[in-house]
Amino acid sequence: MDANFSIIYIYALFLLLASSIMAQPVVFDIRKYGGAPNGDLTSSLARAWKTACASTSASKILVPKSTYSLRQIELNGPCKAPIELHIEGNIAAPENPNQFDGDAQWIRFGYIDSLTLSGGATFDGRGSIAWKQNNCHQTWNCKKLSMNFGFSFMNNSIIQDITSKHSKHFHVNVLGCRNITFNKFTIEAPAESPNTDGIHIGRSTQVKILDSNIGTGDDCISLGDGSRQVSVENVTCGPGHGISVGSLGRYENEEPVEGLIVKNCTFKNTDNGVRIKTWPGTSIKIPVSQLRFENLVMINVTNPIIIDQEYCPWNQCSKQTPSKVQISRVSFKDIRGTSATKEGMILICSSGVPCEKVKLTNINLKFNGTPVIATCKNIKPQVFGNVPVCTS
Ligand SMILES: *[C@@H]1O[C@H](CO)[C@@H](O)[C@H](O)[C@H]1NC(C)=O
Ligand SMILES: *[C@@H]1O[C@H](CO)[C@@H](O)[C@H](O)[C@H]1NC(C)=O
Ligand SMILES: *[C@@H]1O[C@H](CO)[C@@H](O)[C@H](O)[C@H]1NC(C)=O
Ligand SMILES: *[C@@H]1O[C@H](CO)[C@@H](O)[C@H](O)[C@H]1NC(C)=O
Ligand SMILES: *[C@@H]1O[C@H](CO)[C@@H](O)[C@H](O)[C@H]1NC(C)=O
Repeated sequence: MDANFSIIYIYALFLLLASSIMAQPVVFDIRKYGGAPNGDLTSSLARAWKTACASTSASKILVPKSTYSLRQIELNGPCKAPIELHIEGNIAAPENPNQFDGDAQWIRFGYIDSLTLSGGATFDGRGSIAWKQNNCHQTWNCKKLSMNFGFSFMNNSIIQDITSKHSKHFHVNVLGCRNITFNKFTIEAPAESPNTDGIHIGRSTQVKILDSNIGTGDDCISLGDGSRQVSVENVTCGPGHGISVGSLGRYENEEPVEGLIVKNCTFKNTDNGVRIKTWPGTSIKIPVSQLRFENLVMINVTNPIIIDQEYCPWNQCSKQTPSKVQISRVSFKDIRGTSATKEGMILICSSGVPCEKVKLTNINLKFNGTPVIATCKNIKPQVFGNVPVCTS
């Protein structure tokens, strides 16, 4: 080896070493901030977060395996470098709903680029007392309960190997995010827990929900206005109300919903499989387009496929003015299994803005061993393969 070459060689070795050291995140162990097993994690987590978030190289906050209690907390950016919150323990919320400030989330992440939340932790919202106080099915003016998680204005973030349990209200609210992925995320709540939607998405782009199990009392996943490029793959829903686009069209300032793929999912004993619901009555046209529902298995689902543009619970609207939500470019393909009702496919579109470019391909759903029937209104679907015939 000549001298020049060995200098290059040593220099390369040095670079390799330096980069591998730099790639390791700086670890902030919660025990150094006063976090004790079986204790309250709130102030130690807040302090560790503050330091880790100010770190100029990638950081990792470590919460070792144990049980902890945690009061309401906000973990905000911007942070100076990517940040990981690795929690191995079980975390319990205050049980009393009055210990929360209004409808805020229990754990609220905001304004962070490159957050990873991981570690196998279970977050228990201890909602059973709160559920009894929920009267939102009777009145709109009901007490707002806290959600387990809020992710607001986050970019490039990953939530993986995390369980959200018994939330008092929605489990997760995703707002104003770009590129956020939920991977191996588990949601658990009883079928009878009110308004415990699994993951609600609004005004966000590039949201992925992958390889996850969601059993809860309300929607498995719901897409509010401004949801764009959402993909849901290999998710099992049930119990609950299935995957829902909407409700939309209740307010005037809503943004379009564009780009949804729901693929390789299973629905077990849910009220709905895949649903699009819009309110009659608004005056501004809101487009909902490019939705693909593909390779789905339904097991004893009450309404496996449903478009309802006359959604109006408790007669809170005027059905006289048709919905102005324009549904177009929707594909339902390779959907099979069992329906808990004879009418397995309902496509009720708006008389004001009929559904356009809806494709139905190979839909094999059975009720008590016989093919389901379909009800359709204001829609002329393109049909491929074996599909229930529309009646109106
Ligand atoms: C996230 O990305 C948007 C759009 O690129 C940007 O305006 C915003 O500042 C970013 N937020 C954070 C917390 O980095
Ligand atoms: C999305 O975020 C992940 C995690 O930070 C990152 O690895 C990936 O490159 C991002 N994708 C895009 C398209 O920005
Ligand atoms: C689907 O998700 C489950 C976890 O819920 C995982 O065990 C399985 O490997 C995933 N399947 C595929 C094909 O990725
Ligand atoms: C989806 O299912 C198909 C067929 O069942 C399979 O070939 C494919 O690998 C699956 N994809 C994912 C991402 O699970
Ligand atoms: C099927 O669903 C119906 C209605 O949701 C429910 O009453 C029934 O117990 C379910 N059957 C099975 C076998 O799970």
